[in-house]
Amino acid sequence: MKICCLGAGYVGGPTMAMIAHKCPQITVTVADINEARIAAWNSDELPVFEPGLDEVVKSARGKNLFFTTDKVAAIREADIIFVSVGTPTKTYGVDAGRAADLKFVELCARDIAEHSDNSKIVVEKSTIPVRTAESLKAVLNANSNDGISFQVLSNPEFLAEGTAIEDLNDPDRVLIGGEETPEGKEAMETLASVYATWISRDKIILTNLWSSELSKLVANAFLAQRISSINSISALCEATGANVDEVASAIGKDSRIGPKFLKASVGFGGSCFQKDLLNLVYLCEHFGLPEVASYWRNVIGMNDWQKRRFSTKIINSLFNTVNGKRIAFLGFAFKKDTNDTRESPAIYVGRDLLEEEANLAIYDPKVTPDQMKLDLGAKVETDLGSKLEICTNAYDAAKGAHALAILTEWDEFKDLDYQRIYDSMMKPAFVFDGRNIANRKELVDIGFEVYAVGR
Ligand code: NAD
Ligand code: UGA
Repeated sequence: MKICCLGAGYVGGPTMAMIAHKCPQITVTVADINEARIAAWNSDELPVFEPGLDEVVKSARGKNLFFTTDKVAAIREADIIFVSVGTPTKTYGVDAGRAADLKFVELCARDIAEHSDNSKIVVEKSTIPVRTAESLKAVLNANSNDGISFQVLSNPEFLAEGTAIEDLNDPDRVLIGGEETPEGKEAMETLASVYATWISRDKIILTNLWSSELSKLVANAFLAQRISSINSISALCEATGANVDEVASAIGKDSRIGPKFLKASVGFGGSCFQKDLLNLVYLCEHFGLPEVASYWRNVIGMNDWQKRRFSTKIINSLFNTVNGKRIAFLGFAFKKDTNDTRESPAIYVGRDLLEEEANLAIYDPKVTPDQMKLDLGAKVETDLGSKLEICTNAYDAAKGAHALAILTEWDEFKDLDYQRIYDSMMKPAFVFDGRNIANRKELVDIGFEVYAVGR
């Protein structure tokens, strides 16, 4: 069997590497139009940082795992084609800022139709609005060569960045949606048999296409909602003297609520929660359900408020002005163990502070300086050159700073020598812990003024 994947991003790369690693009998080719990305996948410096990914890639690359820019050959040879390209929120034209931009998905469908000379299974791996399979089928069938047919399956990905390899190795479930025809069922069975190489059958769920497509959006909406819920309570904790971690722990003991995903924070980031919520909201509006749309829109509203609340807290605490003050950021990625910064709360807090004329000194163990500049420069019309210093360790960032803001929960930030940091900072020295990872008592004993979310 030959598998091809269009899109060598955070999903396509790790997912295909895992299939190749687990199924040596299958040849897996990942094709991307981004030459630099493909070159990186073929190098020792992979474009995606994920714990355990290097080993998985190295075990199969050059044997049954290939990264290429030659999508035509990859499409032609494949029996199963995964489409794992971006589906960002539209930034132009009708429904900009709301609907999903499906142009990359559609271009893949057109390429597949044009370059296929036998029948194939096409798998939606990208997260897409419900009923996208219908459009995909229309494009594929209208452009295919004679005698060729395509089975379209939905197989959304549930991995989280930072734990992608763990999640792929032992997922809670694999969801496959397909048509309820004999051909559709056969295609679902073919794909299920690939996963069944290492995942037990009872975790592989087969549904109809629309349930599968919608389940992905709903899963992300529920996860994001939990964070907005606990973040809303963090503000009430601050007002009342309750401690949000204690509240989360107490409610999480109820088996109906459960303990996971209740960590109050500076807000959720990542490329998907906001985009998928917007997508869900848009679908609800499209299908004439304004109340449902408004319910889910509030999850985003709460997240925006939480990010802004954090930057406002910094400004207010620093005597209502950060103008010319050095603020050290510990962390810039949207969560630990990834180099991804998409929608990272650090970007929003950073932009707010730059607009208030603060100077930022940022340290993140995995994010490149160019990425940080790109993220912060895009919306801020200041001379970032003198406003932004990117540091190679936390101590350099903190030196001479008025405040330390912990934006990502990297493990190394728990064990820093905070006395040394305190000694090098301006006084009063503030810590704003957006992830509740620092030992508050230790910091207070050293002499810091400490703000931690929900405490
Ligand atoms: P990404 O931006 O990292 O990767 C997408 C890749 O597709 C890019 O490298 C781009 O160059 C490539 N591409 C675009 N058009 C192409 C074409 N015509 N042919 C070949 N390659 C093409 O995106 P991602 O984070 O991997 O996300 C991909 C999809 O998976 C999205 O729909 C996302 O919602 C979904 N998803 C993402 C995650 C995650 O953790 N990032 C998890 C689950 C689902
Ligand atoms: C999320 C989902 O967890 C995945 O199941 C899904 O496949 C993926 O989106 C996707 O579709 O892209 P991801 O965004 O990679 O994965 O990471 P999460 O662990 O979900 O974290 C998202 C954001 O929420 C991060 O900024 C994180 O710091 C924040 N978060 C998470 C909290 O603030 N509190 C929590 O309790 C959990």
